[in-house]
Order: sequence, then C-alpha cells, then structure tokens
Amino acid sequence: MPFLQKIFACSFVGLIFILPSAFAQGDKDASKVIGVDQCAMCHRNEHNVWQKTPHYATFNDMHKRPRAKEIAKKMGIKGSIKRKGMCKQCHYTVQGAKEKVISGISCESCHGPAKDWINVHNNAFMPKEERNQQVDAVGMIRPARIYNVAANCYQCHTVPNEKLVNVGGHPDTSLDFNLLTWSQGMVRHNFFRGRGKNMAPTQEHQRVLFVIGSALKLEYHLRGFAKATEKADYSVKMANKMKEAARELSKVAKAVPEASEIKDMLKTLKRVWKIKLGNEKAFLESAEEIKTLSESFVSKYDGSTLGALDSMIPSASEYKGQAIGE
Ligand code: HEC
Ligand code: HEC
Ligand code: HEC
Ligand code: HEC
Repeated sequence: MPFLQKIFACSFVGLIFILPSAFAQGDKDASKVIGVDQCAMCHRNEHNVWQKTPHYATFNDMHKRPRAKEIAKKMGIKGSIKRKGMCKQCHYTVQGAKEKVISGISCESCHGPAKDWINVHNNAFMPKEERNQQVDAVGMIRPARIYNVAANCYQCHTVPNEKLVNVGGHPDTSLDFNLLTWSQGMVRHNFFRGRGKNMAPTQEHQRVLFVIGSALKLEYHLRGFAKATEKADYSVKMANKMKEAARELSKVAKAVPEASEIKDMLKTLKRVWKIKLGNEKAFLESAEEIKTLSESFVSKYDGSTLGALDSMIPSASEYKGQAIGE
C-alpha cells in the first residue's frame, strides 16, 4: 500500500494559519439532562460501579487539584473550574440554561441526555423493539449502537482543543486510550447482559470493540488534527496518533481482508497523505467517510467471523482497572 508508506514518511509543510473553529463537544443538550439519581433508582449496580470510577470522583476533587488550577490559570479562567470555563464540557455533567455542574461524567454523558427518552425507556408495556426505535430517535445512546456509544469516549478522550494542550499544558489525547481495554475494566457495568453479574465481554464482542477502537482513534485524530493551526505539541501528537491508528488498522486489514470497510478506511487517507496544516476540509472529509464505514462495519459484523484478529487483541490483564461485581 504505497499511500500508507507516504503517510508514514510525511512531514509538516506549508504551514497556513487559520482561526480555530468554535469547539463543540458533541451535542449534549444541558436542558435535557435529568441527573444521575433518576437512573440510579432502577440501576443500582451500574450506579455502584460508576461511583468507583474517576468519572464520578472528578466532581469532588478536580477543581481542587493544583494541576487543574494551573491549567485553568494558563487558560485565563478565573475562579472555580466547576463554575466557569470550558473544562465543564469534559469533566462534568451540566444541567439547564446556566449549565450548572451537577455531577462528574455520568450516565447521560455516555448514554445521552434523557429528558426526551426516559418515559419511553421506562415504559415496560411497550414492545421492546418499538421502544428501542423511539428512544434511538430522540437521542438515547444504547450499547447496541456500539459506534455511537464508543464515539462518545473519543470526543472527550482525544482532547480536541489545541489551545488547551499548547497553552494550558493539558494532557493530550489521553496517552494510551484504547476502547477495548478502557471500557472493560473499572468502567464496565454489563449487569443486564450478565443477569445480575458484571459480564466480561465475549470473544466476539472484544473483536468488534478492538476494530472499532482503532477506527475511532483514526477518525478522531483526523478530526483533532483538522483543527490544528500551529506546529506544536498538539498537532504533532495528533499526527502521531493518527499514524499509529493507521498502522493498527492496516494490520487489521491484512488479518481480515474480507472486511472491505477497513481497506476503504485506509483508502480515504490518500487525500491527506501530506499531513499538513491548513487543510481542514480534507481531514474532516476523511474522518466523515471513516465514520460511515465504521457504522457499516458494526451493522455487518458481530465478531463471529473475525477470529483472525485474536492474536492481536489485548488480554484482560491489560484492562484499565478492575471490573466490579463479575
Ligand atoms: C423505571 C426504571 C428505569 C429507570 C428510571 C431507568 N432505567 Fe435504564 N433500564 C431499565 C430496565 C428495566 C432496563 C432493561 C432493558 C430494557 O428492558 O430495556 C434498562 C436498560 C438500560 C440500558 C440498556 C439498554 C439496552 O438496550 O441495552 C441503558 C443504557 C439504560 N437503561 C440507561 C439508563 C439511564 C442512563 C437512565 C437514567 C437517565 C435509566 N436507564 C433509567 C429501567 C430503568
Ligand atoms: C475535550 C475534553 C476536555 C476538556 C475540555 C478538558 N479536559 Fe481535562 N481531561 C480530559 C481527559 C479525557 C482527561 C484524562 C486524561 C487521562 O487520564 O488519560 C483529563 C485530565 C485532566 C487532568 C488530570 C491530568 C493531569 O495532568 O494531572 C486535569 C488536572 C485536567 N484534566 C484539568 C482540566 C482543566 C482545568 C480544564 C479546563 C481548562 C480541562 N481539564 C478541560 C478531558 C478534557
Ligand atoms: C464527557 C467526557 C468523557 C466521556 C464521554 C468519557 N470519558 Fe473517560 N474520562 C474523562 C475524564 C475527564 C477522565 C479523567 C478524570 C480525572 O482524572 O479526574 C476520564 C477517565 C477515564 C478513565 C480512568 C483513567 C485512569 O487513568 O484511571 C477510564 C478508564 C475512562 N475514562 C474510560 C472511558 C470510556 C471507555 C469512555 C466511553 C465509553 C469514556 N471514558 C467516556 C472524560 C470522559
Ligand atoms: C463512560 C461512559 C459511560 C458511563 C458514565 C455510563 N455508561 Fe452505561 N454503558 C457504557 C458503555 C460503553 C456500555 C456498553 C459496554 C459494552 O458493550 O461492553 C454501557 C452499557 C450500559 C448498560 C447495558 C449493560 C448490559 O448489560 O447490556 C446499561 C444498563 C447502562 N450502561 C446504564 C448506565 C447507567 C445507569 C449509568 C450511570 C449510573 C451508566 N450506564 C454510565 C458507557 C457508560
């Protein structure tokens, strides 16, 4: 694949400075957030697991951490990061027009603000299929929509904000974020599937998470790089992660050549083989195509035919933290 070699041999050329676009963190509508207590009454096990994760703890400690204060200061944020500034988008759940911080990163951060779907979700009398259709239409992110639930992680965990990284000194792109290993350790709460026990992922499910993780890593680093304006920490790291993801995917493509979506994802990179700044459109186009291909991949494959990937898949000992209630 010569275009891949080109990607790896690329350099930064033709620096063009453009204004960074407004930073949009998904489409979480604060006016539709109902708060975690509304979920906890039926989902006790899930709530218990959540309370033991950094997603929960960030509510109580993040604003007090010296490191957070330092970053906020460099970003020109005065006062508590719980009340002001852009840190709220990723470190907390916000509610209402005033975007009041009500908890850490919570159920609705990952499954979607619930105001429009909670009453349908609760309606045990409605046939399940109809219920699923209705809640999906109004923004519930159900685990079956595996691409959507996973894309959410990357929106926060790739830290797609140049100033925050270059000026604030915020960690970029979560070092070693990996969908499979990060979703199946301390974060996992699959009690429904496990009939009361926190079920470990099946081999088939691991394969799908593994592939989609690499595809999302590529997609979100393309998106992140698209917004870069200067050759500095942020753009260099985004570019490196992008290349790392492309390498991962090319291994997947070799192992399961019948999955044409993966090859097609790599082909979209032709358009951006010169990894250079000021080329936002091309990077975003490539990211959009990869998104479409990922959605198509998850609708076609349940993992049962992807056994050739097994030697590449990280083992349970590499999961981030310990799952509770297995
Ligand atoms: C009145 C009880 C009740 C409340 C309140 C409730 N749920 Fe559920 N939830 C259930 C039940 C029962 C299931 C089991 C699966 C089903 O029948 O859809 C479920 C399943 C789920 C699933 C998995 C769905 C699937 O298709 O795999 C998610 C995700 C979920 N709930 C999230 C939430 C969130 C987030 C909240 C709060 C905003 C919440 N639930 C509030 C009862 C509830
Ligand atoms: C785009 C999402 C995003 C935004 C916006 C964001 N953060 Fe973070 N932040 C993260 C993620 C994800 C991590 C976890 C990184 C990891 O552990 O892999 C993190 C980690 C941190 C840490 C711990 C890491 C360390 O170096 O000690 C601090 C402190 C922090 N953020 C402060 C802030 C402050 C202050 C702001 C606002 C000025 C902010 N963050 C805005 C996503 C974000
Ligand atoms: C709204 C933003 C947001 C979303 C969505 C999100 N995270 Fe996080 N996550 C964070 C932040 C911020 C931290 C760091 C919290 C801290 O250090 O206080 C974090 C921390 C973590 C940690 C702990 C890391 C450690 O070093 O201990 C894991 C594991 C994790 N996230 C996995 C996931 C997975 C898997 C998903 C998707 C299913 C996800 N996260 C979705 C913002 C987010
Ligand atoms: C960091 C993101 C994140 C947070 C926070 C989160 N979830 Fe989930 N949830 C997921 C992911 C990802 C899955 C699917 C995991 C998989 O496929 O292995 C899931 C699955 C589920 C399921 C289905 C489990 C099954 O056995 O099929 C339910 C129910 C659920 N979540 C409810 C909740 C509730 C209630 C909360 C809040 C207490 C919550 N979630 C918080 C990401 C999250």
